[in-house]
Amino acid sequence: MAQREKQHTRSRYDLIAPLYNFMEWPIEEFVFKQWRKELWDQIKGPQVLEIGVGTGKNIPYYPENIELTAMDLSPGMLKRAEQQLAEKQKPRVTLKEMDAENMDFPDDHFDEAVATFVFCSVPDAILGLKEALRVTKPGGKLHLLEHMRADQPALATAMDKLDRPIHYLIGVHIARRTVSNVKKAGWKIESVRDLTFGGIVKKIEARKPH
Ligand SMILES: C[S@@+](CC[C@H](N)C(=O)[O-])C[C@H]1O[C@@H](n2cnc3c(N)ncnc32)[C@H](O)[C@@H]1O
Repeated sequence: MAQREKQHTRSRYDLIAPLYNFMEWPIEEFVFKQWRKELWDQIKGPQVLEIGVGTGKNIPYYPENIELTAMDLSPGMLKRAEQQLAEKQKPRVTLKEMDAENMDFPDDHFDEAVATFVFCSVPDAILGLKEALRVTKPGGKLHLLEHMRADQPALATAMDKLDRPIHYLIGVHIARRTVSNVKKAGWKIESVRDLTFGGIVKKIEARKPH
């Protein structure tokens, strides 16, 4: 079952990869860009992991003075990230095809981990967040931008109903309880900021306990 869901997620992202940037263009241009810039301005590294790099939309915002490893499950998305990397000429970046639920990195390796709009798609989000915790150094930080199940009850109920069909179509879960998942994985939440009406998009910062 878990392998089948992973295969489904990978194949959906491989399928939409050529259209992904085009589909998201208006919201990226008018909203996401500013959030990405704000997030990456906070990153000090020096060793940083980006989980679910996708087509590489964060690449233009990577700070110059860090060593960055970025991974994704979907070869189709990664191919676009490689093109973006070549265009933006970021030398200290390594891209890897990898599963966030089973990362090929040693324990306590990264100073910071970042993911934007990823834990809606990772099939077992808590397992992925536990892996992020494992590979981050004690005292290291997790920075997330995520959309999730609304705080507003009527909207949350509608999202619960639509979660399965949307997941089938595009591989995304729209009703994830991401703040709670971060806590369940063992991270200590430091801040949660609502970026939209209804609490659908949040910026989350958490730390790995010593
Ligand atoms: C909505 S896209 C976001 C991409 C990018 N972070 C952005 O901000 O545009 C979600 C990404 O998560 C990746 N993903 C889903 N499950 C994953 C997993 N188990 N391991 C690694 N990446 C995964 C998908 O392949 C996809 O590229």
